[in-house]
Amino acid sequence: MQTHEIARRFTQYFTDAGHTRVPSASLILDDPTLLFVNAGMVQFKPYFLGEAPPPYPRATSIQKCVRTGDIDEVGKTTRHNTFFQMAGNFSFGDYFKAGAIEHAWKLVTGPQSEGGYGFDPDRIWVTVYLDDNEAAELWRSIAGIPAERIQRRSGKDNYWDMGVPGPGGPCSEIYFDRGPEHGAEGGPVVDEDRYLEIWNLVFMQDVRGERSPKDGHPPIGELPNKNIDTGMGVERVAYLLQGVENVYETDLVRPVIARAEEFSGRRYGADHGDDVRFRVIADHARSGVMIIGDGVTPSNEGRGYVLRRLLRRIVRASRLLGVQEPVLNSYAEVVRDAMAPSYPQLVTDFERISAVVRAEEEAFLATLTAGSRIFDLAVAETKTGGATQLAGDKAFQLHDTYGFPIDLTLEMAAEAGLTVDEQGFCALMAEQRARAKADAAARKTGHADAQAYRAVLDAGGGTEFLGYRDLAAEARIVGLIADGAGVPAADAGSAVEVVLDRTPFYAEGGGQQADTGVIRGDGFAIAVSDVQSPVTGLIVHRGTVREGEATVGSVVQAEVDPSRRAAISRSHSATHLVHAGMRRHLGDAAAQAGSLNAPGRLRFDFTSPGGAVPASVLSEVEDEVNAVLTNDYEVRAFVTSQDEARRLGALALFGEKYGDAVRVVEIGDYSRELCGGTHVRRSGQLGLVKLLSEASIGSGVRRVEALVGLDAFRFLAREHVLVSQLAEQFKARPEELPERIGGIVERLRVAERELEKVRAEAVLASAASLADRAEDVNGIALVAVAAPEGLSSNDLRALASDIRGRLGARPGVVALFSADGDKVSFVVATTAAARDRGLAAGRLVPAFAPAVGGRGGGKPDLAQGGGSDPSGVAAAIDALRGAVAAA
Ligand code: ALA
Repeated sequence: MQTHEIARRFTQYFTDAGHTRVPSASLILDDPTLLFVNAGMVQFKPYFLGEAPPPYPRATSIQKCVRTGDIDEVGKTTRHNTFFQMAGNFSFGDYFKAGAIEHAWKLVTGPQSEGGYGFDPDRIWVTVYLDDNEAAELWRSIAGIPAERIQRRSGKDNYWDMGVPGPGGPCSEIYFDRGPEHGAEGGPVVDEDRYLEIWNLVFMQDVRGERSPKDGHPPIGELPNKNIDTGMGVERVAYLLQGVENVYETDLVRPVIARAEEFSGRRYGADHGDDVRFRVIADHARSGVMIIGDGVTPSNEGRGYVLRRLLRRIVRASRLLGVQEPVLNSYAEVVRDAMAPSYPQLVTDFERISAVVRAEEEAFLATLTAGSRIFDLAVAETKTGGATQLAGDKAFQLHDTYGFPIDLTLEMAAEAGLTVDEQGFCALMAEQRARAKADAAARKTGHADAQAYRAVLDAGGGTEFLGYRDLAAEARIVGLIADGAGVPAADAGSAVEVVLDRTPFYAEGGGQQADTGVIRGDGFAIAVSDVQSPVTGLIVHRGTVREGEATVGSVVQAEVDPSRRAAISRSHSATHLVHAGMRRHLGDAAAQAGSLNAPGRLRFDFTSPGGAVPASVLSEVEDEVNAVLTNDYEVRAFVTSQDEARRLGALALFGEKYGDAVRVVEIGDYSRELCGGTHVRRSGQLGLVKLLSEASIGSGVRRVEALVGLDAFRFLAREHVLVSQLAEQFKARPEELPERIGGIVERLRVAERELEKVRAEAVLASAASLADRAEDVNGIALVAVAAPEGLSSNDLRALASDIRGRLGARPGVVALFSADGDKVSFVVATTAAARDRGLAAGRLVPAFAPAVGGRGGGKPDLAQGGGSDPSGVAAAIDALRGAVAAA
C-alpha cells in the first residue's frame, strides 16, 4: 500500500468517525519551546492546556514532523527518519481510553478491502503504563488481545510528554511482530526491532513542569479535561505494508536512493557502509526539502543550522560514495515528485527551494575545497614529523573552522595512510559543547524562567491583546516577575516584568519590534522598554518602576507610546508592500525569509533564485510601492479560516497561528498576507518609501533595507542638499555631475601615471651618482646607502641592478635601504666578479638584517628583505661593510 494511500485511509477513517480534518501545521509553528514541530499534537497544545477553547471536540491530522535528536542513527537502524508524517486522532475532553483503543484497533486490523490496514491481529502486541490496569483491561475486552501480549512498561517508554513543560500522560503503544527472523521472542520489552512500534496512544491528562534531574518533567497538575492524543508513524506502517526492510526503502524515500545510485554508479545493497550513506542521503534530502518548503534557510544557528547540517551531510555522504558533482538540486527534484501529491506547495515553491539548496551546496563545496587544503597541509606536517596519527586539534580545527565532518577527516586520513586521534578530537568537541550549553543557559536566564510565566498563566489565564484597536486601556496587574520569580510587589527603581490581564502593548513578533510606553497605577508608574511573549498566550512587559510601588492586583492604565507605534506600523505596512512588489517583479520564488519593522525603517529578507536584484528592478518596485501610497488604499485586517485565506491568495510562509483561524491583512488589492502585526489604516499614511540597498546575506537570501515616512523624506532631503553642494563645487548642473566627476577622475588617473613615470626616472637618474660614490673595501666596490623613502621593492630592485651594471667588471656589492613609515625594505646585488670572490647576496643578508629588525634572503646575485626598524639602517650598512671586508 502506497504511503499516500495509508495517509488517506487514516483521514478517511477518522473523518467518518466524526473527527474534523485539520491540515498539517507548518514545521516551524511559532512555539518558543520547539525548533521544529515534532508531533501531531503540537498545534493543538492550547486546547489541551485550556488556553483556548477547542473549535471541535475531535480532530485528525497528518502532521509533518522533524526530529533530529537521533540524527546519527539515521541509515543504521530500520526506523529512524529525521522527517516523518505522524497521523493522529485527537479528542479534547470527548472520548478517552476506550474510544482511542477501539478506533486504533479497528483501523490497524480492519480488512484492507474495507478501508483498514489489514494487519494480522495475532501479531499485534501492546504496551501499557505500569499501573494502567484500565488500559490493559480495555485491550483485552475491546481487542481480545491475550494477557501475554500486553506488556507493562515504565515512564521512560510509556509516559509521553513533549520533552518540554506542557501536557503529557501515560500512553499505550501498538507493536507489530515482524517475525522470528528479525530477533528474539518476548515482545517489545525484549526487542524493538523485531517488534516495531507503529502507533502511540497518549491518554493526555497531566501538566508537566520544568525538568528536574531526578524525575524528568514532573507532573504539576491535571489538565482541565481528559484528552486523547495519538500518533501513528505513517512511514513505519508503509514499511510493513510494502514488505521492505526499513523506512528508507518505502515508496516515497527509495527514489532518492535510486538517484544516488545513478550519480555514484554504485549499487544499493552491495556494501553495508555505502548503504548507510544511501539512506542518509534519502532521509536528509526529504527533511531538507520539507524544511526549506516551510521557509527555513541555512544559517549557523537554530533551525537554519539543523537544515545546514542535514544538507551538508548529504553532500558529504555523496562524496564518500565517490560523487564529485553537485547533487542537492537533483535530489530535491526527486523529493518534490514523490511528496507533491500530499504537499502540492513543493511544486509551486520549487524555484525557491532549488535556489536555497544550490546556494548551500556551492558554499559547502567551497568550504570543502578550502578545508582540503588545510587537510593536505596537516597531513604533510604529520608525515614530516614522522607521525602516523593526525592530531586531535587538527581534526577539530577542520571541523570547527572549515565545517569538515569528522568522518570525512577519518576517511581522507585513511586514504593518506594516517589514523586520527579521535579521542583528542572528541575531548575538544565535548569542551565546545559544554561551552555552548553554558551560553545557552546564560541566554535563557535573560528570559527569566518559563516556569514563572507558566505559573502566572495558570493562575490568571492569558493576556488579551487590545492593541489592534486601542493604544491605551485600563487593565489589572495579574503577575509581577523579578529575577525570574513571581513577586507580590515591586518598588521604585526595580527592574520588573509585568503581566496584565489585557494590554494594548504589542509583543515583539513577526519581525515587528515591541511597543514601549508606560503603565500607571495608583501612586506608581512603570516605564515599559520591551514587550515579549515568552509563552503562548502571555504578554510580558519589561521595564522599571519609576515611582511608587507596583502591586499585583492593582488596576492600571497601560499607555503605548503612540508615535513609536505609528512609525513601526508604517514600517510594517511598507514591508508588506515591498514584499508584494518584489513578488510581482521577481516571481513567487521571492519569498519572505525574515523581516524587521522598526520605527522609520525596515529590513526585508527574501529568497532570490536569480541572485542580486538588478537596480532597474529595485527602482521599479520602489516606484510601484510609492504609487500604491498615493492611491491611498484602505488597509483591512480580518480573521478567517486557513482555507479561505489560501483561496484569497494570502501570502503565508510561516505557520504563525494555532488552529484554523488566521488573520489576514490586505492593502487594497495590492497585497494580502497572513499577519499578526499592527498596520496603518490607509496606505497614504506611509507618506514615502525609499529603498536604500540590496545585498546578499548568504545562501540565496537577499536583504533590502528601506526608510519609511519622514525618515525617508529626511534622507532624500539630505541627499538633495549634498547634490546641490556638489553642483556648486563642480560648477555643473546636477544631471551633469556624473560626467563632470568622471572626467576629473580620469584626468587624475592620467596625471598620477605621469607622476609615477617621472619619479621612476628620477630614481634611476640617481644611479649614476650613487655608483660614483662607491667606496673601496678590500678591493671591492661597495655601494651601501639609504635610498629615497617609500620606494617599492620593484623600484629598489631596478635601481640596484642599474648601479650594479655601472660597476661593470669590478667586484662590487650594492645594498639599498628604503624606509616607509615604521618599516624598511632592502635589496642586495652582487656583480659576477664579487661572486667569484665568494660574495653571495643571499648569504650577506643575515650579516646585517638583524640591525633593522628583519630578515630576508635570495639568490647569490640578488637578495631582498625587510625589517621593522628603519633607525637601524646605519648600523646595518656598517655590518655589511664588515662582512664584505671579511670576505
Ligand atoms: N504525541 C505522541 C507521540 O508523539 C502521540 O508519540
